Amino acid sequence: MGADSKQTVLLALLIVSVVSVLIALILSLVRSVEVPIPPGTKYGMVFDAGSSHTSLFIYQWPTDKENDTGVVSQTHVCDVEGPGISSYANDPPAAGKSLVHCLDEAMAIIPAEKQKAAPAYLGATAGMRLLDLQNKTASDKVLAEVSKTISRYPVDFRGARIITGQEEGSYGWITINYLLESFMKYSFSGHWMRPISTRIYGALDLGGASTQISFIPKGDFEDAKEKAEFKLYGFPYAIYTHSFLCYGQNQALNQMLVKATQGKDLTRPVDIPCYPKGYQQTITLQSLYNTPCIVQSAPLASLTQTFNVTGSGNATQCYEILTTIYNFTSCSGKPSCSFDGVYQPPVSGNFFAFSAFFYTFDFLNLTSGQSLSTVRSTVDTYCARDWTELQSSFPKEKVDRLRDYCANANYILSLLLGAYKFNDDSWESISFMKQAANTDIGWTLGYMLNLTNMIPSEAPSTVKVQNYGVWAASIFFIVLCLALGLFMLFLYFR
Ligand SMILES: *[C@@H]1O[C@H](CO)[C@@H](O)[C@H](O)[C@H]1NC(C)=O
Ligand SMILES: *[C@@H]1O[C@H](CO)[C@@H](O)[C@H](O)[C@H]1NC(C)=O
Ligand SMILES: *[C@@H]1O[C@H](CO)[C@@H](O)[C@H](O)[C@H]1NC(C)=O
Ligand SMILES: *[C@@H]1O[C@H](CO)[C@@H](O)[C@H](O)[C@H]1NC(C)=O
Ligand SMILES: *[C@@H]1O[C@H](CO)[C@@H](O)[C@H](O)[C@H]1NC(C)=O
Repeated sequence: MGADSKQTVLLALLIVSVVSVLIALILSLVRSVEVPIPPGTKYGMVFDAGSSHTSLFIYQWPTDKENDTGVVSQTHVCDVEGPGISSYANDPPAAGKSLVHCLDEAMAIIPAEKQKAAPAYLGATAGMRLLDLQNKTASDKVLAEVSKTISRYPVDFRGARIITGQEEGSYGWITINYLLESFMKYSFSGHWMRPISTRIYGALDLGGASTQISFIPKGDFEDAKEKAEFKLYGFPYAIYTHSFLCYGQNQALNQMLVKATQGKDLTRPVDIPCYPKGYQQTITLQSLYNTPCIVQSAPLASLTQTFNVTGSGNATQCYEILTTIYNFTSCSGKPSCSFDGVYQPPVSGNFFAFSAFFYTFDFLNLTSGQSLSTVRSTVDTYCARDWTELQSSFPKEKVDRLRDYCANANYILSLLLGAYKFNDDSWESISFMKQAANTDIGWTLGYMLNLTNMIPSEAPSTVKVQNYGVWAASIFFIVLCLALGLFMLFLYFR
């Protein structure tokens, strides 16, 4: 072999090794950044048809990570104009029409080629549960009409139905713990880990017509009726969950008005301590009694009778009236009982209080972990404010809402303290929140996750993160190539 051909061979070896180093480097970079193919995105949507309004939630997630925890995020929320679908009992087609605006908005957000694969649901809650009790024909018609409207859109519509109170409580609990990755966490070492159980949060949900409480109790269950059991990512969970129909804030305030007016002389203005000082309104008996939540104790003279109410803005008296809407005598002698004879183990662990719990406390600036005594004094001060002054201080607030903050705040306190029996200590474990991981907290996400089987009951077996072995091997290969290259260079120039 001549000197020239020897040099040519060395040069070729050098080029090969340099190219290998580059390829190895590029490969290892690409692998660790994990961006080889852009993963597909999938969309899903759920209508939350509540008693006072309907919202449409649009979610999205990467298809290649479908079963991982915490990967579903909220893309958009659309608020349906007008009242809840149960208000359309006398005109069911209008319930369907009310959804059109949000459906159109969703079609503008979800890319056309993804729409066919997007699961779509409508879940109705306590407003429709009440209508179902009052007039089943009407509630069936409303559901049929909203289904008809959604079916006209090119999505994978999977039905409109009234969800049970227990589902509502369970799915809210699943939503929070999914968003906070309490069920499963992908650890640094590339394994699925189950965080310690103290990281599991309880859920407190307050709607217009019902309220839900869900948590993992410390001890055993005495009443299987209030237990919901499921297996998520390979682990069994047994939660206490109860939904109180007629104890959403609108129905509770209606009960309060009935208590405040019962047995009163209605020809004179009736004093309402939950309303601000100087507030005046004329109401009809019909508006108070037209709900299955009120049982008429005595036949009323005439439902069309009107009467006047005036606010007196007294938080203490407001709280007292509100405590009369619960039946605590039916719990006497039972240590684990909230009210109306309902079993409830002592509250334990940390809680998230969302929906109307959040809205009322947010307005009063009470969502940053204030102590119970601060909350009480803030509520007292708010309730004592004059109606004219309140209206000029909050000109943008809707009049009915502004009127009801005092009542709602006292209702929340009576529910959490009087009924659920939180105390000064356990109060500190409640966080008033609207969102977690940029996604609204509510039952809708948990509902979709469950119905699309996105939370597998068995633990995931695949290891997706690049593991240490592969990483070490690529480093070794790079170093080997470099050494080889340097050795070639050395031979070439010698
Ligand atoms: C998710 O889990 C289900 C059932 O456990 C399985 O059939 C499906 O292939 C999984 N999907 C992904 C993307 O891992
Ligand atoms: C129930 O609703 C239907 C249609 O919405 C109506 O025609 C009917 O009169 C209602 N029945 C009662 C008892 O109110
Ligand atoms: C409370 O419940 C008890 C037992 O269920 C019942 O006897 C009583 O009448 C109820 N009280 C009221 C005010 O409804
Ligand atoms: C809450 O805080 C804001 C900003 O400090 C203030 O303008 C508003 O009046 C407060 N709300 C109430 C109800 O006090
Ligand atoms: C989730 O859906 C399954 C049926 O797909 C049902 O058996 C299960 O009870 C649901 N989980 C919850 C928490 O409701």
